[in-house]
Amino acid sequence: MADSREQLAEHLRFLGELGVDGFRRDRVWAGRPGERGEGRGEREEKPEVRSPEPEVRVDPVTELAAIRDDIGDCTRCKLCSLGRKQIVYGVGSPTAGLMFVGEAPGRDEDIQGIPFVGRAGQKLTQIIEAIGLKRDEVYIANVIKCRPPENRNPEPDEVDTCEPFLFRQIDTIKPRVIVALGTFAARSLLKTDAPISRLRGRVYDYRGAQLVPTFHPAYLLRNPSCRRDVWDDMKKVRSLLNGETVV
Ligand code: URA
Repeated sequence: MADSREQLAEHLRFLGELGVDGFRRDRVWAGRPGERGEGRGEREEKPEVRSPEPEVRVDPVTELAAIRDDIGDCTRCKLCSLGRKQIVYGVGSPTAGLMFVGEAPGRDEDIQGIPFVGRAGQKLTQIIEAIGLKRDEVYIANVIKCRPPENRNPEPDEVDTCEPFLFRQIDTIKPRVIVALGTFAARSLLKTDAPISRLRGRVYDYRGAQLVPTFHPAYLLRNPSCRRDVWDDMKKVRSLLNGETVV
């Protein structure tokens, strides 16, 4: 007993020489080096290490159907009373890596309720197939979901009313690449007045995707000399889909 008291006293002297001037009964001190509270004299909470939240991805099929339901038989702008037969929503794969955005439905699309089914649509199908994809592997939609009378350009209030639905389609599908078809789509998406001839040839960051503007297939039908430019743009699209860096 005397021995152990003597040993304890000596041990305390030794600790005193090291500068240890007291003990706390706090359990934090009871740990070993490397454990919680090591040698600091204070209770230190280790930050909780959390694994990153998995991205909650809403089922795109359900979400696209919900957006379509929200559009309903839309009367939000004047196009509903200017002769359109039906809403032309979008078509294709809900998980497409590649999305095409056109201007607005034409006569054939208004009749069938499907975007790009007329002559311009056939040209678009050829373009899609030229880069080794099938039409049902991409997603196709328009900025405006109703046919403007006499195929006139959509007006600013019509775009403002309708484009939120396109944004929701894009945010649901999360394509890696978006092709804006023609001046109107490119200008609407990029919020610029620049002509397509100035916009194309570059890749833009857009809503988490890479946006490639190109000529509208209807314009290509009238101006076959643009084929080379469209092909250059589509080669860029193919490279982007392959994960290559494109300027
Ligand atoms: N032109 C477009 O911009 N969209 C269509 O759906 C058809 C023709």
